[in-house]
Amino acid sequence: MITVKNLTKTFEGNVTAVNLISFELLEGETLCMIGTSGCGKTTTLKMLNRLLEPTSGEIFILGKNILEQDQIEVRRKIGYVIQGGGLFPHWTVAKNIGLVPSLQNWDKEKMSARVDELLNLVELEPAKFKNRYPAELSGGQQQRVGIARAMASDPPVILLDEPFSALDPITRAQMQTEFIRLKKIVKKTMVFVTHDLKEAFHLSDKILVMDKGNMQQFGSPDDLKNNPANDFVKNFLESHLN
Ligand SMILES: Nc1ncnc2c1ncn2[C@@H]1O[C@H](COP(=O)(O)OP(=O)(O)OP(=O)(O)O)[C@@H](O)[C@H]1O
Ligand SMILES: [Mg+2]
Repeated sequence: MITVKNLTKTFEGNVTAVNLISFELLEGETLCMIGTSGCGKTTTLKMLNRLLEPTSGEIFILGKNILEQDQIEVRRKIGYVIQGGGLFPHWTVAKNIGLVPSLQNWDKEKMSARVDELLNLVELEPAKFKNRYPAELSGGQQQRVGIARAMASDPPVILLDEPFSALDPITRAQMQTEFIRLKKIVKKTMVFVTHDLKEAFHLSDKILVMDKGNMQQFGSPDDLKNNPANDFVKNFLESHLN
């Protein structure tokens, strides 16, 4: 479903943010990318939907080399939940969710029905929420709207950049439960960035551990626990899981 080979990004001034990352994800799987701040998670995510161009390496999504595809075409199959929420403050909830469909010229009725459907999916009552502005929502509600927006045009792949990191522990736990419920219903292939190892173990089928742009291990939560690839992974697990 998603195959990444030797993905590398070097910024000007010779900062290698991502160095030779490779992994393969099957349809419907959730990958959690984890590592300390600045280790290259957001940079990797942005390359997956061509917000950033790789310096080298390959990315195949649904069997197609996305670096040879039109950017618009690539983004049509990928929903993106931005780090920090990223809702437009002067747009209502309905307009925020309808962003991508409106770019695809959906008619008003179809769009309105889709907005209601998505709000129900993320458990926000449409009549109550669709005409509100982001500032009139709690942090958790804003995150739900962000997730609904990423799913609006029903893309097969969804990328989420630390979607729950700004939430208090109780709301965060609720959102994680919600995420697992949604995952069962929508069956999307997802790449989820987090710096919380417990969250990664809770939500993922596969985990990619990164440090300073380098891949330390890629595998299932059980692989990591039972066969940590090196001392970095071993220490990371010991210090973050207990
Ligand atoms: N446009 C840029 N130009 C130069 N360096 C950059 C640029 N964007 C990111 N970097 C650097 O690349 C590295 C990786 O950044 P990235 O945003 O991918 O980290 P991250 O793992 O998402 O961190 P965080 O957990 O803090 O969000 C950092 O050292 C960062 O300073
Ligand atoms: Mg980041």
